[in-house]
Amino acid sequence: AAPGVIVVGSITADITTFSERLPEPGETLLGTAVTLALGGKGANQAVAAALAGANSFLVGCVGTDLFSSLVLTGLTGYGVDITEVRDVNDSTGVAHIRVDASGENDIVIVPMANSHLGAEQVDAAFVSLAGRASVLLTQLEVPASVTMHAIRAGSAAGLTVLLDPAPATALDPGIWPFVDIVTPNETEARILTGIAVVDETSAEEAGRWFCDRGVRSALITLASVGAVLVTTDDVVRFPAFPVTAVDTTAAGDAFAGYLGAALADGLSLADAIRRAMAAGALTVTRRGASPSLPSRSDVEELLADHSSASSL
Ligand code: RIB
Ligand code: NA
Repeated sequence: AAPGVIVVGSITADITTFSERLPEPGETLLGTAVTLALGGKGANQAVAAALAGANSFLVGCVGTDLFSSLVLTGLTGYGVDITEVRDVNDSTGVAHIRVDASGENDIVIVPMANSHLGAEQVDAAFVSLAGRASVLLTQLEVPASVTMHAIRAGSAAGLTVLLDPAPATALDPGIWPFVDIVTPNETEARILTGIAVVDETSAEEAGRWFCDRGVRSALITLASVGAVLVTTDDVVRFPAFPVTAVDTTAAGDAFAGYLGAALADGLSLADAIRRAMAAGALTVTRRGASPSLPSRSDVEELLADHSSASSL
């Protein structure tokens, strides 16, 4: 059977404006472009996993408004299975994203329907999807208690459990032994561990913090520097793929989705990480959230270019 990935997480309509710079408080600016598209970290990860070739099952909630058809059409268009996405009597979540000319962004998320996701829906989804997936992807845009429940239930069901702790928030310290792989960026690592992550050495220290608390593999991502993998008995550094940043939105989601799909496909952790880093790098070169997620052939091309360049 094709590899399967379950994503428990958020679904939003992303309204993105592009402007030369971001406005100062109280300032009104003229922008250069606007897009409306499927987003939300859960949805983006599910799309990335589907693009990577996995059977991708999303567990989440949408509302009953205009945006609901936008996001559901987006998800099915990418081949994401939405059998476990529930309609609730609320508005679909919205993310308001602003991007400047250097590719920096800021985001305000209004969860709406995403706040209705509950432990019962997760349990029911795990029962109906039993045997169809080997990897669980989680993030922190749905109620934290529900993510914690999904992690414990996924671990009990024998799934390889990934937590992308984004956006970072303080977590139940008892959760770490149930997490196989945690993938924070510098900011998230600092918020969770209290260690200021500024380089590979401090990233290694932060990675060790997670492993000391029961996580199997801590992968600290350092944007243009690369990533540091810390396991109980090893530390491995992965250099970044050099790219020009246009819009960093969804780079972390591309990374998580491709990582989960590669692990479900049986790749080694190191090979899965390289593939995920290539996917994240390509996402940074394109505008928007889900529309910027790369195809598998683009990812393979970047990996091939890179390995031929490094063997010269
Ligand atoms: O990670 C990117 C996502 O974060 C966007 O799609 C937006 O919805 C925000 O939640
Ligand atoms: Na992008």
